[in-house]
Amino acid sequence: MDVLLLGAGGREHALAWKLARSPGLGTLYAAPGNPGVARHARLVELDAADHATVVAFARDHGVGLVVIGPEAPLVDGLADSLRAAGVPVFGPSKAAAWLEGSKGFTKDLCARAGIPTAGYVRVRTRADADAALAGTFSLPVVIKADGLAAGKGVTIAYTPAEAAAALDILFDGPGEAVIEEFLEGEEASLFVLTDGVATMPFGSAQDHKRVGEGDTGPNTGGMGAYSPARVLTPDLEARAIAEIVRPTLAAMRDAGTPFSGVLYAGLMLTATGPKLIEYNARFGDPEAQAILPRFDGDLLQVMLAVAEGRLGEMPPARFIPETALTVVIAAKGYPATPRTGGRIGGIDLAEATGALVFQAGSQTDGDGPVASGGRVLAVTAVARSVAEARAAAYRGVDAIDYPDGFHRRDIGWREVAREQRWREVARERG
Ligand code: AMP
Ligand code: GLY
Repeated sequence: MDVLLLGAGGREHALAWKLARSPGLGTLYAAPGNPGVARHARLVELDAADHATVVAFARDHGVGLVVIGPEAPLVDGLADSLRAAGVPVFGPSKAAAWLEGSKGFTKDLCARAGIPTAGYVRVRTRADADAALAGTFSLPVVIKADGLAAGKGVTIAYTPAEAAAALDILFDGPGEAVIEEFLEGEEASLFVLTDGVATMPFGSAQDHKRVGEGDTGPNTGGMGAYSPARVLTPDLEARAIAEIVRPTLAAMRDAGTPFSGVLYAGLMLTATGPKLIEYNARFGDPEAQAILPRFDGDLLQVMLAVAEGRLGEMPPARFIPETALTVVIAAKGYPATPRTGGRIGGIDLAEATGALVFQAGSQTDGDGPVASGGRVLAVTAVARSVAEARAAAYRGVDAIDYPDGFHRRDIGWREVAREQRWREVARERG
């Protein structure tokens, strides 16, 4: 079967790499892709915003499945246009992608369905925001832009001045925001494939959203991840699915807008159990670069089962028990103003260490890959323990020659510390 993959990041390189391992794959087309995706796919020029052209391409080339990687074309309704033309799609409709497209929409759904999440108010004016801050919330408080913001629309304000500064930006023009209670706990991401009815848990991960070591500095799209997130124990995962994911899918069905694709639940593991921080309507980036190398199955088959509403016939997804850890190498200046154009060398050397090098913001000029975006590479290694996976991933990272780049050295620190404590406990018990 021929497949069209849309998107240009490290997530799409990981998807292309994994799809290329499916025995049923014919030609993999990708648009716009990147030099990493091109190792597994034939790149084609297609603008995802131009639905008619994407539909025509899929029809003319007999594409049996379109996989939509990023959120923007989902929220823009590309999956609806393809489905209306009879083309199977992995990715939710515009109405279902609203779970990611509007934080206020998701919070209202949670409130109606009794889904555990932070207390909130939706505000549409600065005056309403100020009133909510004066009345309902204590500090710290979380202030979020309502719409898509690539991980940059959230402020955790510890002082009234910080809250005011965030609101100054949000209500500079017409705006809509959600103000939330601050949740305490550890974060974990849970991925669930669904055709709207059946669910297939598809792995967990922990992202590192802050740009700096020790989780400091501004939020980014994610500087590294590892999978599985052992802090999300089987018991907590079952609770998250029963108390958060399933009621959400039921509410979407009841509204006549079933969600089909991968639902990414960002969870806070609080003292009283998992609470929803946010939903995404797609795989995480860089979480996909850690989860897909652990998936021990046929990605094309499960994606097709999702697209065709047959997920309930499939056996549960199997993952290898090892840990996968991914380190993102970003262009200096990211996330504010990444410096593009820097030459990237050493990808072969990194791969020779056994690491997987996924390309994200890269393009080729005459002499090889150069940086073209904020997050440039994601280097993944798989090993028996998180400490070993981390050491192996950094061996790969250290083989990369990209002077204009930077990365965090502490990806996986929480889990490495946990693993260390378990070892000490085991030693004490003999
Ligand atoms: P979001 O874009 O909604 O995932 O938020 C980005 C990050 O802000 C999350 O990954 C959390 O680290 C943090 N965050 C968001 N909402 C809350 C909350 N209610 N309580 C504490 N931290 C939050
Ligand atoms: N890494 C966070 C995201 O993909 O939204």
